[in-house]
Amino acid sequence: MDEFAEKLIHGRVHVSPKRLGNPGPNEKQKQQILLAANAAPDHGRMMPWRFIEISDGSRSALGEVFYQCLLDRDPNATPIQLQEAREKALRGPLLLLAILNFADDANEISKDEKLISLGCAVQNILLSAYALGFGSGLSSGKALQSQRMRDLFKLNNQEDPICFITIGAVTKNKLGRIRPSLSDYHSIL
Ligand SMILES: Cc1cc2nc3c(=O)[nH]c(=O)nc-3n(C[C@H](O)[C@H](O)[C@H](O)COP(=O)(O)O)c2cc1C
Repeated sequence: MDEFAEKLIHGRVHVSPKRLGNPGPNEKQKQQILLAANAAPDHGRMMPWRFIEISDGSRSALGEVFYQCLLDRDPNATPIQLQEAREKALRGPLLLLAILNFADDANEISKDEKLISLGCAVQNILLSAYALGFGSGLSSGKALQSQRMRDLFKLNNQEDPICFITIGAVTKNKLGRIRPSLSDYHSIL
């Protein structure tokens, strides 16, 4: 494999949003990262996904959702846990929500295929960020599937929130995981 592709694909690792700081991508880099999504395979050209960027001004509203969702799940959550929930929204200079759009009038392409297309778009974003020298991490969590989250992002009933993507400078390195070997996932019929 070409050395650059090899480095790109195998070099990217999940970085916890806690370890992603400033500087984040500038405007041009952000566009480049987001444009990588549109090269994802997309059966039927349905663009079954979109990404919402959480601006600095909206971080506190997102923090409030994390906070309220924790209270919904655990009315006995401690003030420290609640504070941590709120602060999750502040992590990382570029924060995106990846949304699956499974609207399909002709009902021709399965929801699974659409989810794969979103996964490819997400990976393109992660690789593009990595190629520009940034770290990235995906996060999901219980609050993501809440009605509060759907309301904040104004999702329609043919959309599902799938994960957050955080992108920024890596402030602390941690070793990546040991990846599965080929024989773990490849066989010949
Ligand atoms: C849809 C999705 C959601 C994820 N959510 C989380 C998460 O909430 N917390 C977390 O630590 N990692 C999350 N991850 C990242 C994985 O844990 C990570 O990719 C995995 O450990 C493999 O490590 P690597 O990406 O460095 O190869 C998520 C990954 C995907 C695909």
